[in-house]
Amino acid sequence: MADRIEELRKLFRQEIARITTPEELEKLRIKYLGRKGLFMEIFKDISSFPAEQRPKVGELANRVRNDAFSEWNTKKKEIELKKEEVKEEKEAIDITLPGKKFSLGKKHPITLILDEIKNIFVSLGFRIVDGPEVETEYYNFEALNMDLHHPARDMWSTLYIKEGVLLRTHTSPVQIRVMEKQSPPLAIIAPGKCYRRDAVDASHSPMFHQVEGLLVDEGVSFAHLKGVLTHFCHRMFGAETKVRFRPSFFPFTEPSVEVDIQCVICAGKGCSVCKQSGWLEILGAGMVNPRVFEFVKYDTKKYTGFAFGMGVERIAMLRYGIDDMRLFFENDRRFLKQF
Ligand code: DAH
Repeated sequence: MADRIEELRKLFRQEIARITTPEELEKLRIKYLGRKGLFMEIFKDISSFPAEQRPKVGELANRVRNDAFSEWNTKKKEIELKKEEVKEEKEAIDITLPGKKFSLGKKHPITLILDEIKNIFVSLGFRIVDGPEVETEYYNFEALNMDLHHPARDMWSTLYIKEGVLLRTHTSPVQIRVMEKQSPPLAIIAPGKCYRRDAVDASHSPMFHQVEGLLVDEGVSFAHLKGVLTHFCHRMFGAETKVRFRPSFFPFTEPSVEVDIQCVICAGKGCSVCKQSGWLEILGAGMVNPRVFEFVKYDTKKYTGFAFGMGVERIAMLRYGIDDMRLFFENDRRFLKQF
C-alpha cells in the first residue's frame, strides 16, 4: 500500500508540473483530491485493512494527501500571479516611446499687421471700435454722402443680402455709427473685414481687411491729418520713409487725398511693383465732408475732423514683400510658418 501511495504522489507531481491554466488545475483537483478522487479510493481501500495496520498507512496517506493539497495551493497562486503579470505586461505603457509632437501655432500675418496698426493708433490716443459686417445702404452709402445714383455705388461692386442690406464694402460706415452715439471730441479706429464682388487675383479678394480712422474736434485741420498719417507711415515702414499726399476724391471727405509712400522695393527708382512710379499708394484720407456731419447732426460750424481708410492686406504685402494676396487666404502652412 505504501508503494501505491508513493506512486500516486509521483504521478500527481508529474501532472501538476505540466499545468499552466486554472481549468487544468481544477480538473487535477477533482481527479486526485475530489470526493471521488484517487486519494479517496486509497482511503476507502485502507478502511478494509486489518485494524492494527490502518494507523500507519492511514498516517502516510494523510500526509501525502496534505502535501498534495499544499502543492496544489502553491501552484494555484503561481498561476494567478502569472496571469496578473501577463495582464500587466499587456496594459503597460511604454514610457520610452516618444510622445506625439504638437507644433505651436502662430498669428496670421494679417493679424500681426493689424496688431501693429492698432498699437500705433492706440499710442496716439485713438480708441478701437467695432461695427457690423452686414450693413444697411444707409450706413454704407447714404450717410457717407453717396446717394442712390452716386457712381461710387457701382465702383464698390456690392454684395447684397437683400433689398437695402449688404455686406459692407468698406469700414467707413463705422464712422457714422460712432458719431450717432458720441459727440466730439472723438478719435477712433475701426478695423475689420470688408466684402466686394471682385474676382480673385493677385491683388483682389472678395473679402479683405481695412482699418478706418476718424478724429473730430474743434479746430482740427489738414495739418493734423498730415501729422498723424506721416507719423503712422514712419512707424509702419521706417522713419526714413518718404510720404506723399496726392489730391483725390471721396464723397465723404473734402478735400480728399491719397497717401503714398516711396516704393519699399526699389527705394523710389521705379520697378514693377510701383509700376515705375517710385511710389506706392497705401491709404485714402481727407477732411470729413460737412454733409456727413449733417447726417449725424454735428455742428458743422464748431467741429471739423479728418478720416482715413487703409487696406490691411496691401500694407502686409509691402511690409513682408509678398506679391500675391491669395497667399493670405490659402492657409498653406509653409507660408504661414514664416511669420
Ligand atoms: N472707404 C474708402 C475705400 O474703401 C477708403 C477711405 C478713403 C476711407 C478716405 C476714409 C477716407 O475714411 O477718408 O476705398
